[in-house]
Amino acid sequence: MGTKTIVRVKGTQDFLDLTLFSFIVRQFEQHVLLYHFEEIETPILEHVELFRRSLGIYTDVVSKEMFLIDAHGEQDEQLCLRPEATAPTMRVFLEQQPLLPWKVYSYGPMFRYERPQKGRYRQFHQLNMEVVGSSSISQDSQLITMLDRFFHENLTLNNYALQLNFLGSYADRENYLKVLRAFLDGVNGICKTCQERKEKNILRIFDCKSPTCQELFEDAPTMVDHLSDESKKEWEQLQQELSLLSVTFSYNPRLVRGLDYYNKTVFEFTSDSLGAQNAFCGGGRYDQLANQLGSKQTYPALGAAIGIERLLLLLEPLRDTLALPQPKPLYVLMPLSEEQNSLALLIADALHAANLVTDTLLDGDSLKSMMRRANKMGAAYALIVGDQEQQAKTVLVKNMMTGDQEQVAQIDLINYLRR
Ligand code: HAM
Repeated sequence: MGTKTIVRVKGTQDFLDLTLFSFIVRQFEQHVLLYHFEEIETPILEHVELFRRSLGIYTDVVSKEMFLIDAHGEQDEQLCLRPEATAPTMRVFLEQQPLLPWKVYSYGPMFRYERPQKGRYRQFHQLNMEVVGSSSISQDSQLITMLDRFFHENLTLNNYALQLNFLGSYADRENYLKVLRAFLDGVNGICKTCQERKEKNILRIFDCKSPTCQELFEDAPTMVDHLSDESKKEWEQLQQELSLLSVTFSYNPRLVRGLDYYNKTVFEFTSDSLGAQNAFCGGGRYDQLANQLGSKQTYPALGAAIGIERLLLLLEPLRDTLALPQPKPLYVLMPLSEEQNSLALLIADALHAANLVTDTLLDGDSLKSMMRRANKMGAAYALIVGDQEQQAKTVLVKNMMTGDQEQVAQIDLINYLRR
């Protein structure tokens, strides 16, 4: 009719084989349960205001990448699809006031209106974990160790690096920003975007891709050289504890992260095999997010999120070496004509009740093409019921590997298949 077919929305993906995807999620769940995290789930829809207050209005995510939703004219209710899960988790915490420290994880789709490219989508999935209500820097050491063990031990990854920086307390940061601004006042030739960043979101200058800017910023003052004594102690403790736990990291004074709520510890797990979008996990501490969201009380907190699509890119080449779950044997039931469909339904029902994975070919076809299909489906056995079997109350059971076949009484079928 000449009507165009509808294709998927730009920047989204369809997953037809979820083996690796589900493997990651399951391994993650098992791993974080060992550290006593609990699962939560929050809505995909949130108030835009939640992210304006937490991520910051000048961040890329809030200023350019929000998927806004028409909330049917309810003016004070501007809604959006969540771009991340930390602010929503803190919102839940403040609404429900659970026991402290609150250690939770969640998993699901996030939405950012970014320019799609390898490893960057408009709908992507994160495994997110947060610890709310703990100010101990050892908690940061343990969270980072938990992640490193997950990537290295559970997923057997080797080709990655852990980058670490320390942004200090909010007061340290204010002091440092003054020093940084003074430094920028003294350099000529920074790009237009960085000039804007200098006014609005100065730390983001370190993300600039322009070689000129990168060179100019090489001499920029670093945050860790402008920490208070207390922060300096914490920064040292963090590095010592990670070393004690044999977690390899590299200090990256340029790592500032794209969201405004961070203070103190920030980190990213990156891999050169990912190309330009090289971070597959990022996180840090955000001690004042609760206050930014309107809480009078301060709840120091920290967390991280893993980008599942990027982890998939890293794991795909290792697929054959991973302990992926093996599918159970498949039985394919073939009624030879429509007359046997009802009998096939009864047999299938009994097999399902006995926990045997059974598919039933109900659309009528020649035995030859049904056998061909069963082969493609990876069937272990074909279970054929024709007129003759119906009369004799048997099933013709054919072993797809050996080609051996045998008439089996319907009443004995389950025992026969289980032997
Ligand atoms: P984030 O660095 O914005 O942090 O995202 C975490 C991870 O999500 C990234 O390292 C990346 O792997 C993945 N990711 C981000 N954007 C995309 C995209 N467009 N396409 C594919 N993958 C993407 C956060 O979201 C913080 N909420 C993390 C956190 C939790 N901090 C404290 N707690």
